[in-house]
Amino acid sequence: MSLQVSELFAAREAERYALHSRYLNEQMVRVLRTIGFDRGYLKGAGQYLFDRKGDRYLDLLSGWGVFAIGRNHPVVRSALKEVLDDSFPNLVQMDVSVLAGVLAERLLRYVPHLEKVFFTNSGTEAVEAALKFSRTATARPGIVYCSHAFHGLSYGSLSVNGDEIFRSGFGPLLPDCLEIPFNDLGALERALSSRQIAAFILEPLQGKGVAVPSDDYLPGAAALCRKYGTLLVADEIQTGLGRTGRFLAGEHWGLEPDIVLLAKSLSGGHVPVGAVLTRKWIFDKVFDRMDRAVVHGSTFAKNDLAMAAGLATLEVMESEKLIENAASKGERLLSAFRKMAERHELLKTVRGKGLMIGIEFGAPSSLRLKASWNLLETVSSGLFCQLIVIPLLKEHRILVQVAGHGIPTIKLLPPLIISDSDCEWIEHAFEAVIAAAHRVPASIWSLAKTLMENAVQKKVSNFGEQTSTPSR
Ligand SMILES: Cc1ncc(COP(=O)(O)O)c(C=O)c1O
Repeated sequence: MSLQVSELFAAREAERYALHSRYLNEQMVRVLRTIGFDRGYLKGAGQYLFDRKGDRYLDLLSGWGVFAIGRNHPVVRSALKEVLDDSFPNLVQMDVSVLAGVLAERLLRYVPHLEKVFFTNSGTEAVEAALKFSRTATARPGIVYCSHAFHGLSYGSLSVNGDEIFRSGFGPLLPDCLEIPFNDLGALERALSSRQIAAFILEPLQGKGVAVPSDDYLPGAAALCRKYGTLLVADEIQTGLGRTGRFLAGEHWGLEPDIVLLAKSLSGGHVPVGAVLTRKWIFDKVFDRMDRAVVHGSTFAKNDLAMAAGLATLEVMESEKLIENAASKGERLLSAFRKMAERHELLKTVRGKGLMIGIEFGAPSSLRLKASWNLLETVSSGLFCQLIVIPLLKEHRILVQVAGHGIPTIKLLPPLIISDSDCEWIEHAFEAVIAAAHRVPASIWSLAKTLMENAVQKKVSNFGEQTSTPSR
């Protein structure tokens, strides 16, 4: 007897939305149906997804930043097959893993000022470990984090989440967590001067809205952390592993954090894995005696499939020069979008580094467009972005997301393998859709029509909430 997974997938794939509505997250299915994102993809290869008709889509979402090396990369698949075909002594627990040792050694080569690695199963678990390590290493209670930060959704991570929509209804959260504005050194110094702060945790570029710090911010923050004895924790879960055109985004500013967090694309898109890279003295404070050798950990961390996925991912990043590709394609796209902003008054600013790009829309100056913009803003803040995101998928087969709840920014997070012809596809599609959005009210009626078709039973006043697509 064996389970034929491919047959099962083929036999049941048409029922996916019904299954999810019945047994999983019904609200997610409603969101997908409302904005016409219920495409029922059948295959993924590299930067592309394929639907039932065999139509090819360009994925600028990358599974929230997981598919840096693209979907189903042959090097990762072959490494995983090897692990499965061999009989490695996986997860012995009262022994140590060979592959974990090698992956740790390899990761630290990219971040030579750090000396130890702690592996986890996900991004949020890496954040939890960093919070625990920081408190115990400094014997201080406080954690400082930034407004609009996203570090995951388990309790520690949620306690340092700078967005009320994620926190609401889940309190009480961890005590002694203090929120400050991003990119504000004065606020940071006021927070740290109590000398009660164990760690300052931040994303070097914030995922929400793609916020890029001013050039003095990260070096200034590192200096303040040193001055007040606070650990600097760089959450590079989204920005790390080449995403911004450097191995770590912090490298753009010469940052040397005390703790660096990785996850997402380290998985090769196949096996969840996270990593906490730290200074030795911090690690030694946590694991300080033999009876504390397992004081923090997780059963499945360091499993052979995850370690092999991490090793294969780094191999692909190096052999395909993906960090360099992220830098050059990112520059090309940023410059193309900046030129578009000169032509289209609703396109306000373009931000980013490498292949993490935010395109922000804003109130127009001309009276002709103002009324339509205000109408959409009244229905729901950020709804304008649906005028872009929906036709990008429907008419141009480009999958992209709004960069956060209620903010008028679209985020591009493509696989780092994208080619020049993919860039042309992106530039052509955005130009067409943004130009159409300026031809109001036709574009608004077309948006309303799509929403109506997909949610006929709903009142128009509910569309805003339904279409505030989940994002990170
Ligand atoms: C910057 C950042 N940190 C942490 C996380 C949480 O990672 P995970 O979803 O694997 O728990 C995310 C996920 O989106 C993230 O973007």
